[in-house]
Amino acid sequence: MISLELLVKKLKIMNEFKPSEKLEQLPPYLFSRIHKLKLEAYSKNLDVIDLSMGNPDLPTDTAIVERLCETVREHPRTHRYPQAKGMPKFRNTVAEWFLKRFGVKLDPEKEVLALIGSKEGVAHLCMAMLNPGDYTLIPDPAYPVYYNATILAGGKPYLFKIKPENKYLPDFSKIPQKILKKAKIIFLNYPNNPTTAVVEDESFFKEAIMFAKKNNLILCYDNAYSEITFDGYIAPSILQFEGAKDVAVEFHSFSKTFSMAGWRVGFVVGNEKIVGYLEKFKSFIDYGVPTFIQLAAVKALLDYERIVEEVRKIYQHRRDLTIKEFKKIGWDVDVPKATMYLWCKLPEEITKQLGSLKFAEKLLVETGVAVAPGVGFGSNGEGYIRLALVTANNRFHDTALRFEKVFRELGVELKKRKKL
Ligand SMILES: Cc1ncc(COP(=O)(O)O)c(C=O)c1O
Repeated sequence: MISLELLVKKLKIMNEFKPSEKLEQLPPYLFSRIHKLKLEAYSKNLDVIDLSMGNPDLPTDTAIVERLCETVREHPRTHRYPQAKGMPKFRNTVAEWFLKRFGVKLDPEKEVLALIGSKEGVAHLCMAMLNPGDYTLIPDPAYPVYYNATILAGGKPYLFKIKPENKYLPDFSKIPQKILKKAKIIFLNYPNNPTTAVVEDESFFKEAIMFAKKNNLILCYDNAYSEITFDGYIAPSILQFEGAKDVAVEFHSFSKTFSMAGWRVGFVVGNEKIVGYLEKFKSFIDYGVPTFIQLAAVKALLDYERIVEEVRKIYQHRRDLTIKEFKKIGWDVDVPKATMYLWCKLPEEITKQLGSLKFAEKLLVETGVAVAPGVGFGSNGEGYIRLALVTANNRFHDTALRFEKVFRELGVELKKRKKL
């Protein structure tokens, strides 16, 4: 008779777990390679300047933190399961904020849904709406979640290029008819991550809505950076434009606007049917945003003007500082009108010699500066790196010097140092 020990050993041999094919199909997470190198750099006591993720370094506003503490302490009912779709106070406040900010009226009952961050909502939207083989239309480059969530939902991503010569706006006419016939969702995101592009000609929104209507597409508009804008630029909501609610849902995040990335809270608004399907899907998966976080988020929206004005000032100042430091080493970088990023074109010889991933790795290993390689956002992002302005002002001078060191080492001829 076989002993238990032997049986367990045998079973162990048999227990070779493999993830689903869908999970295996996914490329390694964009930041995982950089993250690993970052940890190695920290362990070697290298002075790391981490500009790789859009993870705000600013603390959440004190009034929001206070609201959270007080709520948790004084109101034990908030320790229970939350209302998954968002408590009425949360949804009503979102609707009021939306009306004030964008002039768009929303029905808080049907057109607003709380999310555990907009990433969660975007990913679950794919699962709620896609059947195996359905296409999603995704910009290249883009926030990687659109692609990954499509694969996890059994869908097929179709990547359309967005190019600097087109101000990073899509050319819808280039998307083949045979793909359009099988497509169900189109993702658009302005202010854009990673390119920082904004929409200045509002006729684009009308065109996008018409395109979605004509092709029976859900227009998934990711507005995570709507409030991080500079030089007087105000980002619109797609829901401001006629017919949008027939096809569009729009995602918002507290992560960037209110430096609340770790709190995990956001919301989706728009087409009531799509919002309803997402709500239904989520009801089988999660219990929603903790009540005390929802109440803190309400406080954030109520204090929006004061908080956001300050946040904008800080990022705009960092943007100007970094660009000035780069200019001093002879590297010209585009000035973004929005987001907390710089989308920097690498000198040609670096793209040819190394490409953005190898360059980002070298920069990190040799100097401790961590950035996101453009290629991580799609092959069309090659030739660029993305810098998140999420460190103290006094680090940008050093950042530029470290870039200069690696550029020199690679034989890059930068323009003459500019005295500024
Ligand atoms: C374009 C875009 N959408 C959504 C998100 C996710 O934000 P959240 O923290 O709300 O999940 C990010 C985060 O970096 C982003 O860049």
